[in-house]
Amino acid sequence: MRYLTFALAKGRLAEQTMELMEQIGMPCEEMKEKSRKLIFVNEELKLKFFLSKASDVPTYVEYGAADVGVVGKDTILEENRNLYEMLDLKLGCCKMAVAGKESMKETIDNMNIIRVATKYPKIAEEFFLEKKQRTVEIIKLNGSVELAPIVGLSDVIVDIVETGSTLKANGLTVLEEICPLSARIIVNRVSMKMEHSRIMDMIGKMREARGGL
Ligand code: PRP
Repeated sequence: MRYLTFALAKGRLAEQTMELMEQIGMPCEEMKEKSRKLIFVNEELKLKFFLSKASDVPTYVEYGAADVGVVGKDTILEENRNLYEMLDLKLGCCKMAVAGKESMKETIDNMNIIRVATKYPKIAEEFFLEKKQRTVEIIKLNGSVELAPIVGLSDVIVDIVETGSTLKANGLTVLEEICPLSARIIVNRVSMKMEHSRIMDMIGKMREARGGL
């Protein structure tokens, strides 16, 4: 039997995913040990796991370096890779939204050019083009995006909103919701054929463990 390889977005989502893997009888003891290893193996079940930056997970899966990936819908939309999205795990639920100062509610529609700061240039550009029929100036940032409208770098932001407390603490508000987000199981297209029963069996167990998604 060949190894089934998993790419996980490092952080809380990877931890929640490994709890789920344990629940469905596909655990990885090696991953619980503190070490600087990058790849973790369950020899008995022929499983391999590695952690990567969230935005790299779809890349590993598209090229087949990982058969399966677990990553947020935000990253899947932004990366737009050639792969199958198989299951919504309903973990890490939040939303993508346009946010800015309250005063933007009245002014935004009359603006000639809207400057949008975001970690998600593709999602932002597509939203304004398709839903608003507007071209916008995208300013790509890599974090703490809420700063941009406060210091005058942009008019609005496109970012993830979970509890809304970051926006509130910075005097910003949701202007428009773009889409709901949550963690998804993604699968390489060839792996889906070669390892069909193994992957479908795992997805069935995950669905059951998550309360019949
Ligand atoms: C995310 C997101 C918001 C915040 C939303 O940032 O970009 O800043 O969480 O959460 P809230 O609505 O519950 O306040 P993250 O912590 O991932 O860090 P970042 O600044 O690097 O984007």
